Amino acid sequence: MSNFLGFKCSICGKEYAAVNHLYSCPKCNGNLDVILDYSKIKSKYQVEDIISRTDFSLWRYLPLLPVADPGGEGTPLKNAGWTPLYTPPGLREILNLDELWIKDEGRNPTASFKDRASAVVVARAREIKAEVVVTASTGNAGAALAGMAAAIGQPAVILAPRTAPPAKIAQMLIYGARVILVDGNYDSAFDLSIEASKHLGWYCRNTGYNPFTAEGKKTAAFEIWESVMREQKSADRPLCVFVSVGDGNIISGLHKGFKDLIELGWMEVMPRLFGVQSEKSAAVANAYFSGSEEIIPVNSTTIADSISVDLPRDGVRAVRAAVQTGGAYLTVKDSEIIEGIADLGKYGIFAEPAGSTAFAGLQKAVNEGIIQQDDPVLVINTGNGLKDIKTAMQAVKNAPVIEPDIKALLDCYQSQLKGSMR
Ligand SMILES: Cc1ncc(COP(=O)(O)O)c(C=O)c1O
Ligand SMILES: [Zn+2]
Repeated sequence: MSNFLGFKCSICGKEYAAVNHLYSCPKCNGNLDVILDYSKIKSKYQVEDIISRTDFSLWRYLPLLPVADPGGEGTPLKNAGWTPLYTPPGLREILNLDELWIKDEGRNPTASFKDRASAVVVARAREIKAEVVVTASTGNAGAALAGMAAAIGQPAVILAPRTAPPAKIAQMLIYGARVILVDGNYDSAFDLSIEASKHLGWYCRNTGYNPFTAEGKKTAAFEIWESVMREQKSADRPLCVFVSVGDGNIISGLHKGFKDLIELGWMEVMPRLFGVQSEKSAAVANAYFSGSEEIIPVNSTTIADSISVDLPRDGVRAVRAAVQTGGAYLTVKDSEIIEGIADLGKYGIFAEPAGSTAFAGLQKAVNEGIIQQDDPVLVINTGNGLKDIKTAMQAVKNAPVIEPDIKALLDCYQSQLKGSMR
């Protein structure tokens, strides 16, 4: 039984049937929202039916997804999502917040949020019998598609900038995807992948182009609703969710998930969504600051490779996610992103630069009084720090190297370590 009715353009409002290879709106190029049959879902399921399910992955929300079960029991595909939530008291105290959660998406099977989108797109690919799935990627989407596809033997092709962090390229190759590195940036890989998909009939997973990516990403909103909002002390104050923004598809996917829950009557208070971008890749934030939905491309140069995007492909819905929920956009410096990696690391959380971006945004929001002490806050760490150790090493001092004898160790301890022990 599918709850998938069709698509609706987020810009011109035109509706489309649930056909196989439809991406952006053919009329105006806007992003398409998936239309679900809410009344059918409501007639069949109550909240209890969902939260009593025993699969602890994003698939516990299958009744709210527009795809059929892709199979793949016992594989990483069936283990995407249901990521841990931390409540480190030290971080809460430093930020002077009553309630703080960190949702660690780095604990997904391929170590980033992108597994959610890739899992659902792979399910869709299986349903429509796509021979090959192609994607452009700054790195994580490609690694995620490669991993999720490998889990059920789905051939995948990844186009990524040759400058993508080596760990991400290694993941794609190890998972057995066909990887082509483009001598250009993410935006050029994006355009090329769409051309390739048209020429070769490949199913295209691209972020902010394939409507099913947001449907995968919305499952994080369901988890936040189930695990945090239903437990919140101050349910009368909306939860404030901080997330980094590149193409804008994670934030618009979260928004879609929360809208689904309101539509179903399962949630009353819409969380406030805060998007965080690097000052050096801020096309969505710029539109938000200018009070417009016009996304003007930038020349992106941020160190946070995952959110380094000239022309965000889901920019309009990303602006709306903040505007329509009473959230906001913030921009942070690359130096603050690097410091954020060290700040989170001190509490046992290792974030890649795009992950610490959200945390750096929260620090700024607290400092500027945008977030008050009694605002409940959840920060999403979207990717694991092992994805980009070159940047991580900029957040710390190199370890000292000594001769293997006790005198050298004691000297080193006295001169370098003693003062910094806590
Ligand atoms: C770790 C990480 N954080 C944030 C993002 C930004 O997501 P979006 O491009 O959907 O805004 C990405 C996208 O690649 C990512 O990999
Ligand atoms: Zn349209």
